[in-house]
Amino acid sequence: AKIELPDQIAQAAAAQKLKISIYFATWWALNVVFNIYNKKVLNAYPFPWLTSTLSLAMGSLIMLVSWTLRIAEAPKTDLEFWKTLFPVAVAHSIGHVAATVSMSKVAVSFTHIIKSGEPAFSVLVSKFFLGETFPMPVYLSLVPIIGGCALAAVTELNFNMIGFMGAMISNLAFVFRNIFSKKGMKGKSVSGMNYYACLSIMSLLILTPFAIAVEGPQLWVAGWERAVSQIGPHFIWWVAAQSVFYHLYNQVSYMSLDEISPLTFSIGNTMKRISVIVSSIIIFRTPVQPVNALGAAIAVLGTFLYSQAKQ
Ligand code: 3PG
Repeated sequence: AKIELPDQIAQAAAAQKLKISIYFATWWALNVVFNIYNKKVLNAYPFPWLTSTLSLAMGSLIMLVSWTLRIAEAPKTDLEFWKTLFPVAVAHSIGHVAATVSMSKVAVSFTHIIKSGEPAFSVLVSKFFLGETFPMPVYLSLVPIIGGCALAAVTELNFNMIGFMGAMISNLAFVFRNIFSKKGMKGKSVSGMNYYACLSIMSLLILTPFAIAVEGPQLWVAGWERAVSQIGPHFIWWVAAQSVFYHLYNQVSYMSLDEISPLTFSIGNTMKRISVIVSSIIIFRTPVQPVNALGAAIAVLGTFLYSQAKQ
């Protein structure tokens, strides 16, 4: 057997660290761009059910083409795989559409402040649905998370109930998605990239009939004409950008999940939200009161305390 020398081990560890840093930086950057285009589209074209369906459709298309052209190797799946994927796809569809509905009603920063409370949902779901118990510091870390989110919500200048509930439902749905997908990715016969591709395809099939029922082609066409007359023909590129970037940031996040623990992943996700909150406030000139910002900061700090307590 090959004996590894200590400096080779150190080199491998450094290379792994660099790889994860590149994944994280790419994930956050793609996510910031997605959030900006997504909001620009929703401002001119308030049809969140259609735009969330389009982002899944774009992801499915990109992956089907990549498999056909052999840019990526298609996964070998069986019926059992798709059966286990079904609950993940239901949760992914609900969480995705709920977040998009939320962002169509409130500032991007507000949706993400509420979404930074996801760890609190994770603990509550694990406790009440799975009967898991946690050490006291974990429960205590929920106090600043919930308190901070509540303070940010009550002081939000443009508070809207649908916007708030959408973000809360998205939190709940994504906690279930993460619990189910952890089970589905076990054994690792399918890579993170292909797992997310299959998830997009199945979620697209689930979401499409609901999008047609809730909004429907008539409203979509009329709204599209209005948006194009307001923005110009390049509006279509905004829609394309939000769809492509949605797929890419999720793909990179699932690829990084292959390399890191779920805990590191959730810390990365919270740091991602800080970059989205700050950049969207600057770009959309979102009005923030100091007490509102304090609420957001407490919630984010709570998430860090939570990750420390869980370690
Ligand atoms: C969506 O549209 O699915 C949300 O913006 C995703 O939220 P995330 O930041 O939790 O991926």
